[in-house]
Amino acid sequence: MAALLIQAAYLVAAILFILGLKALSSPATARRGMFLAEAGMFFAVVGTLLDHRVITYEWILIGMVIGSTIGAVMAIFMPMTAMPQRIALSHAFGALAAVLVGIVKYTEYQGEHGILPGPGFMAAIGFEVFFGALTVTGSLMAFGKLQELIQGAPITYKGQNFVNIGLFFATLGLFGYLIFNPSATNLFFVMIALGLAIGVMIVMPIGGADMPVVVSLLNSYAGLAASATGFAIDNKVLIIAGALDGASGFFLSILMSRAMNRSFTNVLFGAVGAAPPASAAATGEQRTVVRYTPEDATFLLENSQSVIIVPGYGMAVAQAQHILAELGDLLTETGVQVRYAIHPVAGRMPGHMNVLLAEADVPYDVLLEMDHINDDFANTDAVIVVGANDVVNPSARYKKDSPLYGMPILNADKARNIIILKRSLKPGFAGEDNELFYDPKTMMVFGDAKQTLTHMVQQVKKKVPA
Ligand code: TAP
Repeated sequence: MAALLIQAAYLVAAILFILGLKALSSPATARRGMFLAEAGMFFAVVGTLLDHRVITYEWILIGMVIGSTIGAVMAIFMPMTAMPQRIALSHAFGALAAVLVGIVKYTEYQGEHGILPGPGFMAAIGFEVFFGALTVTGSLMAFGKLQELIQGAPITYKGQNFVNIGLFFATLGLFGYLIFNPSATNLFFVMIALGLAIGVMIVMPIGGADMPVVVSLLNSYAGLAASATGFAIDNKVLIIAGALDGASGFFLSILMSRAMNRSFTNVLFGAVGAAPPASAAATGEQRTVVRYTPEDATFLLENSQSVIIVPGYGMAVAQAQHILAELGDLLTETGVQVRYAIHPVAGRMPGHMNVLLAEADVPYDVLLEMDHINDDFANTDAVIVVGANDVVNPSARYKKDSPLYGMPILNADKARNIIILKRSLKPGFAGEDNELFYDPKTMMVFGDAKQTLTHMVQQVKKKVPA
């Protein structure tokens, strides 16, 4: 009876995971997707707790309390801007769990069972611990780089790719050997050690700019390790959830690489971003911009018929989404058409802008993806760029030596007037100067985006009766 209940719980969990993933593909249903996936996880946990192989619940309970406390603290106190490193940390934990389960399973076989695992079983354990081990250290490296605990710039040396590939194949050789010679316990642990080393080596040469792609790829590895764990401990929901995780992480990595115009192999083996191009500030080149006040910008917006808002990483840093949404609402009330243009890699993680704007209750129908709004900029009176930079940098279209070259950008430069809110003339993430700042149509309004927008909202409110 319990066995039937467990399988039913797992089936429900698997269905909920799939429906959750599907709902996550649109901002309008994303919240529901999260709830579905959470409910799926609940069923998976309950199903597992019913397993007759559970000897005592004591340690499980202690683990759950500690894990939930850490999870809740991280969720409450880590800011949205630190989300990529938070995810990296979660992958490290998940993968560590997979490695530990793999080691336990392996030693269990060696010890009390007195029999050796067969080739199929050993392949699952080997895969689990190898991919798990490299995900643990790779994710910790990614965390360190994103949190700026270790140098974010790529660390390279001559023959690096050769060493990495050599190490990888050596480990794969060991893995193959172990499948048919599972009694070689020492080699099993050597393989784990090599997996841990490979995790460090493969993330070392990757620059901070590409780190979210790496995090997403490690997500995929953690999923594959979990799936292998499912085979090793005969747990179907783990096989399904791991496979979903593995596949979606892999697709996301490819999509992110494409949106950033990086070749996937280049992210993995290329030490991209090794030498950021010299910015105007560094080269001493002098160009002038006119500094405008928030009042000037407000005046322009109020006298526009159509406005497009382009949010970027700076909006996230300033936590300006709420006040920005308020400005958008006020302008809409006065009859201005207000829409938001979302670039696929604006911010620092996929969907970053969508999440923040959803948090500020911006209606989904005015959030438009790049492809849907890019042709409209030319007919728009004013575009207001809030802490975005690379995603509106026109040099991506023609400057061949730019790291942005080839990345599709939002056509903000085509609008009749451009307002840019940022603190200085500093380049964006890619380190490339932005000629848009010097465009005669551009009004630079310097300062923290939240403060500037607060001034602007006060200005508009003076005219709009409450
Ligand atoms: P960025 O090019 O990074 O520019 C953000 C701008 O915000 C900076 O130039 C900064 O200028 C400004 N800023 C920072 N704090 C601010 C504040 N408190 N108030 C006002 N402005 C502030 O941002 P973007 O246009 O969103 O482009 C994203 C970049 O990240 C792209 O290069 C993309 O490839 C990369 N990336 C994205 C992802 C994903 S998946 N989204 C992943 C990895 C990398 P000041 O310092 O002058 O204020």
